[in-house]
Amino acid sequence: MSNEISSIGRNGGLDPALLAAVNRNTVDACGLPNQAYVSRTFAEFERDGLLARTWVCIGAAGSLTNKGDARPVSLLGLPLFMVQDGDGINVFHNVCSHRGHQLIGAACRFKGSIRCPYHSWTYAFDGALRGTPHIGGPGVHEAEGFDRSRHGLKPVRSAEWMGLVFVNLSADAPDLDRHLAPLSSRWVRFLGQGDAARLKLASEDDSFSLEIEANWKLAVENFCESYHLPWIHPGLNRYSRLEDHYHIMHEGLFAGQGTRVYDPVYRAGAEFPAFSGWPEGEQRLAEYVALFPNVMLGLHVDHFYAVVLIPESHHRTREEMRIFYLDDAAESETHAESRRTTREAWRAIFLEDVGVVEGMQRGRHSPAFSGGAFSPVMDPPTHCFHKWVANGVNNRNLDTA
Ligand code: FES
Ligand SMILES: [Fe+2]
Repeated sequence: MSNEISSIGRNGGLDPALLAAVNRNTVDACGLPNQAYVSRTFAEFERDGLLARTWVCIGAAGSLTNKGDARPVSLLGLPLFMVQDGDGINVFHNVCSHRGHQLIGAACRFKGSIRCPYHSWTYAFDGALRGTPHIGGPGVHEAEGFDRSRHGLKPVRSAEWMGLVFVNLSADAPDLDRHLAPLSSRWVRFLGQGDAARLKLASEDDSFSLEIEANWKLAVENFCESYHLPWIHPGLNRYSRLEDHYHIMHEGLFAGQGTRVYDPVYRAGAEFPAFSGWPEGEQRLAEYVALFPNVMLGLHVDHFYAVVLIPESHHRTREEMRIFYLDDAAESETHAESRRTTREAWRAIFLEDVGVVEGMQRGRHSPAFSGGAFSPVMDPPTHCFHKWVANGVNNRNLDTA
């Protein structure tokens, strides 16, 4: 990994002067240069030199409920998979220790062990190599001198928070709870004791995914601001105006915006249960936070969502919207119509955003643009994210804990 980084250059090939310009005061600052969005070489640097050093969200733990449930995740070409081992989720590099075949191509449920489709070597859900059929010749399943304990799957450090699975590829970031402490303490006023454990993931039918032709960072940037609401979300803007929003920023960890006029869309009589700690009189408050690098969170009195951004390439991103409800509301028949309405309301809003995120990607091919400008009043959260990327690219400490 480190050799590749040095061959690309310490800054991933980005001009140091342009990176320095990101750190100016918001009114004078430039955004990240085009190369950060359109260069495959930069994307490789970004994966190994930036994303790998922190905690990256790869999905919802609740999507793997039964022992043996597994699903692949590819981060800018790096193949991983997660598997439910009964006690929790383990994450491994998605490659067989024999001849390097990819182990999992699609979500599946393994019975008893993980089996490679090529020569049928099998692995326990903790990664240990168990079966090596015919390794010693026909009918001989062991080979002299071959030590299975040396050929297990390669684990990836992982941890969970609010029902989400995060990985730290470098394995040396601070513990996830410590890393996320500033966000946990921001939201402690909303979540009562034990509320996080009451959250349950709705089924995939009650969530949705979108494929967008844009760099993952542009989705984050768009999520950080409410500036575009009047033009891109006219329906939302009818009741949620610019002046109903406030900025949320924690340098080096998260940025976004909150609203004071959240309007739930559940069916009358099928209201969702609420967080027990939510402050009286603030039921219409909702917070939308991009947790760096790649997950966009929405916290409301009656549901929580996470949009996991899976960067498939430097110009293609999968947005996996996962919605969580409290207690039985994630699966009860009583709430089915309310869940469907909530999902469709969010789908409509995220679809409205796709066009502008893709439009920014197209614009990043223009030599007349080299990062652009920020509104000093409307764009500080977006600028906050740019600074996180620029500082990470400059190899500064990504830890705020
Ligand atoms: S490559 Fe997996 S068993 Fe041979
Ligand atoms: Fe939007």
